Amino acid sequence: EKGGYDYFMLKEIAEQPKAVADTLLGRIDAGGSLTLDEVRISAAELREVDKVVIVACGTAFHAGLIAKYAIEHWTRIPCEVELASEFRYRDPILGKRSLVIAISQSGETMDTLMALRHAREQGSKVLAICNTNGSTIPRESDAVLYTHAGPEVAVASTKAFLTQLVACYLVALYLGQVRGTKWGDEIGAVIRDLSQISCEVERVLETMEPVRELARSLADKNTVLFLGRHVGYPVALEGALKLKELAYMHAEGFAAGELKHGPIALIEPDLPVVVVVPSPRGRSVLHDKIVSNIQEIRARGARTIVIAEEGDEAVVPYADHLVRIPATPTLLQPLVATVPLQVFACELATARGNEVDQPRNLAKSVTVE
Ligand code: M6R
Repeated sequence: EKGGYDYFMLKEIAEQPKAVADTLLGRIDAGGSLTLDEVRISAAELREVDKVVIVACGTAFHAGLIAKYAIEHWTRIPCEVELASEFRYRDPILGKRSLVIAISQSGETMDTLMALRHAREQGSKVLAICNTNGSTIPRESDAVLYTHAGPEVAVASTKAFLTQLVACYLVALYLGQVRGTKWGDEIGAVIRDLSQISCEVERVLETMEPVRELARSLADKNTVLFLGRHVGYPVALEGALKLKELAYMHAEGFAAGELKHGPIALIEPDLPVVVVVPSPRGRSVLHDKIVSNIQEIRARGARTIVIAEEGDEAVVPYADHLVRIPATPTLLQPLVATVPLQVFACELATARGNEVDQPRNLAKSVTVE
């Protein structure tokens, strides 16, 4: 049932190109527009939305953090992202025009369920992004967009995360489409890029051997830091979460711009620091800033593990280890940049003799608050 792989996690990492493609299937019409008929919230209602609030936990929360960048850029609707476990306890401001998006692989996470119940009590519409047909969260929501990742068995979420990202992009683009924002042309181009992206994920998977080798060489380390900017910041958080739960190592993700506000004090000789580098094309100012962050940490002796786009030569002098990912539009980069971090964590877990599919103290779905 593991399809020839040693662990479900390895199988699920390998299934990601198909999971991504399946989640797009039937949702882009021949004219290149989105058809999300299954989202039973009318176009008229979606045009009224004045705020989007995303609630989720763990890896699904990281997908939500990335969705915020896409939703605000493509739709200009303000978007908040909140840990489901914090949400209802702070008396959030919600109304009939708020669209609440609950993201959950299992559809049974109690914190997320309680958050969506609270939102519905306040009169908000709830859209679930979920991987499990007929589970509680979609049943209790006004509408659901299913991710088509197939069953995810390993406790550490991988293919569900990539498909959650795809679903979030679809919702963001659909909101942009029905509201006719000024990004109209860009939306068409992104839909085209999105329909190609599963091949790019496949290409990343084909080049992972050096990442595995690197992971094995770091098996005796205690700490790994992860840095990113813009959508690379939630990717850094996700890389750190994977490493904590699988390798039982101290791992932290930071927004690279925050380094100088404290975390840089942690840098010591030979400390592995993974840096997710934004594309040098497009918003190049982001790229230049992160290159100087890499220089800063390297000057203090950090061992830099740099994840950068093919053709990005500016990072080469400062990378102790360079992991290449295909060029993608900035907002879609997490779909390719997360994959090496999953492979890295999985290999480190194996090298440290940990149980990959069933890490200690964790359950696949957390059905208590
Ligand atoms: O089933 P859900 O997506 O609601 O689960 C949320 C988190 O419990 C889950 O993503 C958790 O963080 C994973 N073990 C991370 O790999």
